[in-house]
Amino acid sequence: MFEHIPVLLEESVSFLITNPDGIYVDATFGLGGHSKRILEKLSNKGFLVAIDKDLEAIELGKRRLEGYKNIKIVHSSFSKVDEVLESLGIEKIDGILFDFGVSSLQLDKQERGFSYSKEAFLDMRMDTTSKLTAYDVINFYSQEDLERIIREYGEERFARRIAKAIVERRRNKPIETTTELSSLISSVVPKPKDGSHPAQRTFQAIRIEVNRELDEIKIALEKSLRFLKSGGRICAISFHSLEDRIVKEFFKFHSLECICPKDIPVCRCGKKKELEIITKKPIVPSKEEIERNKRSHSAKLRVAQKV
Ligand SMILES: C[S@@+](CC[C@H](N)C(=O)[O-])C[C@H]1O[C@@H](n2cnc3c(N)ncnc32)[C@H](O)[C@@H]1O
Repeated sequence: MFEHIPVLLEESVSFLITNPDGIYVDATFGLGGHSKRILEKLSNKGFLVAIDKDLEAIELGKRRLEGYKNIKIVHSSFSKVDEVLESLGIEKIDGILFDFGVSSLQLDKQERGFSYSKEAFLDMRMDTTSKLTAYDVINFYSQEDLERIIREYGEERFARRIAKAIVERRRNKPIETTTELSSLISSVVPKPKDGSHPAQRTFQAIRIEVNRELDEIKIALEKSLRFLKSGGRICAISFHSLEDRIVKEFFKFHSLECICPKDIPVCRCGKKKELEIITKKPIVPSKEEIERNKRSHSAKLRVAQKV
């Protein structure tokens, strides 16, 4: 059984639930850690819609929540949250929680191909029913695209060197496994000073590309806002600066009254303030939480409320 320790559990669920009778969405069900806590806090009039694109996680998470009746778990992408809610006849929600990134199941299960240290086929799909795999990205993308992805999504300064090495290596034979890729990267870049693995950033980049992670987040945030009741909240836990920046900018933009240039005397943009930012600074895990769960170390929780 895969153990997943939910990150910022009490903090995120306390911010999320403003009405125990309300309708909530857990957009990243995973192994059901946050969902379980949400259900414990809801009354029997409350309802939870849980979404995940990983069928295997849903199966395992479901077992954890046996006995709870006021939950519907849906296999879908959170960028389709509108379709999910409409299919259930739900017009408005009281809150939505996002806990981005990969789950322990995805990282720890060797054959999913997410880990640079576990030998596996280069897969990295969160949704194993989707087509694009890490193998396709590594073996068929152009050198320019690989360099761009590794630089932008991995924030890797040796992106050019890595992309060049990948393209040279695959000329003879496709790169098939995680360890083949990680040892190739280790052979062309210096060991990072922060003690991380030389392939860590590239693996993050390829994973983001395979799962279209950043586009998914942008679309889902916009759609969630349309479904939120006044007073309803968006709670988002991110694990790296690319995710956090999207959330921060989204909250900031929707919390502004006006976006006219400063030298215009009268507002012409017609923009309305839709969100109140609740967490002026992101909430981060305590020292104790990081000691208990190393994976929580980079987590940041941001919360905003519909006005
Ligand atoms: C960090 S885990 C969530 C863990 C969960 N909160 C728990 O406590 O068990 C992130 C989950 O989000 C899912 N996920 C990531 N991107 C998604 C997307 N665009 N649509 C739906 N699910 C997504 C992953 O499959 C993974 O199971």
